[in-house]
Amino acid sequence: MTKMVVTPWEVSGDIDYEKLIKEFGTQHLTDELIKKLEKEAGSSHFMLRRKVFFSHRDLDVALKEYDEGKPIALYTGRGPSGKTHLGHMLPWVFTKYLQDALGANLYFQITDDEKFLCKPELSKEKTKTWAYDNALDFIALGFNPKKTFIIVDTDYAKTLYNMAIQIAKKVTASSAKAVFGFTNETNIGMMFWPAMQAAPCFLPSVLEKRNVRTLIPAAIDQDPYWRIARDVAPKLGYPKTTAIHSIFLPSLAGPGKMSTSVGQNTTIFTTDTPEQVEEKIMKYAFSGGRGSIKEHREKGGVPEVDVSYQWLRIMFEPDDKKLKEIYEDYKSGKMLTGELKAILIEKIQKFLENHKKERERARKNLDKFILKD
Ligand code: TYM
Repeated sequence: MTKMVVTPWEVSGDIDYEKLIKEFGTQHLTDELIKKLEKEAGSSHFMLRRKVFFSHRDLDVALKEYDEGKPIALYTGRGPSGKTHLGHMLPWVFTKYLQDALGANLYFQITDDEKFLCKPELSKEKTKTWAYDNALDFIALGFNPKKTFIIVDTDYAKTLYNMAIQIAKKVTASSAKAVFGFTNETNIGMMFWPAMQAAPCFLPSVLEKRNVRTLIPAAIDQDPYWRIARDVAPKLGYPKTTAIHSIFLPSLAGPGKMSTSVGQNTTIFTTDTPEQVEEKIMKYAFSGGRGSIKEHREKGGVPEVDVSYQWLRIMFEPDDKKLKEIYEDYKSGKMLTGELKAILIEKIQKFLENHKKERERARKNLDKFILKD
């Protein structure tokens, strides 16, 4: 076992999601609550059925209010430090379901300021360029331009900064240190920065001039921000933000989240070619197969540790029946690792073929989504 680290800036080691629920103080996403969400949404989603989303903060409160006809807005985002990879897209795929199902406004924050501050190698110009590039990946998923508002921090600074200072005034250095692990070596920009990610939690209330509760779909690494936002909400007279947390799409190499900093070869980017997808999965996807075909046929594979199977389960095979067949065939030894990998390769190649077309179309529509002040 390698030591688990989960912060907004680093995720590594063997991740124990039960332990995270305890450490972060979040709540389990129970079957009962999933049913409630599906009822309000009017449809089910495989990421709920499979507990890819597994934890939450006050989702029950958000659903109750939604049921009573009170306003709700969705909020999620991206830190533009480089190309978008498939892991980043996981919460956005689910966000698309939520927006369609709940008909809610959606705010998408792109934190070029954060990435400039926390990555010594990145210039302000570079993070801004990545911001507008990454926005294309988000728009490509088909969000409703009338209800979706993208904020690029340094270009929406007038509104955000004015909100962030109100939040920052209520957060002490000792609590920021405890929540984010800041030290005396952390630059002062980063010390202030969490107030900028907390600000959009309340932006819908400010823009609509009434109380609008936000619901944030994101992986659990972003949760520390919501802790800060929820602490200050009553002090500033806003409803506490609510959240629904996903697990991580693992790196092709296995444990930890997929992340560019871990390695280019164990990460699949939205701009990868079909050949790159095939090569990466064939060469690097950690296998739950046995040492020889003979042994594999006898003992069967281990889907629980097989990254190709996990990617299908988490994101790329929405059909429960098909997934079950793959599970059983692999576990019994009928399906070999190469065959399992071929299924995943085809799925991702198809997904990316369509995504790249939509990404190009998004260039023309970018302006319709960007919120200006
Ligand atoms: P960033 O760019 O690190 O990640 C963008 C979103 O992707 C999620 N994520 C993953 N999900 C599943 N599997 C993975 N391997 C994986 N890697 C990343 C993150 O949880 C996130 O939802 N500071 C933020 C940007 C931000 C934001 C937000 C994110 C601003 N406001 C509100 C979520 C919600 C960041 O750097 O995200």
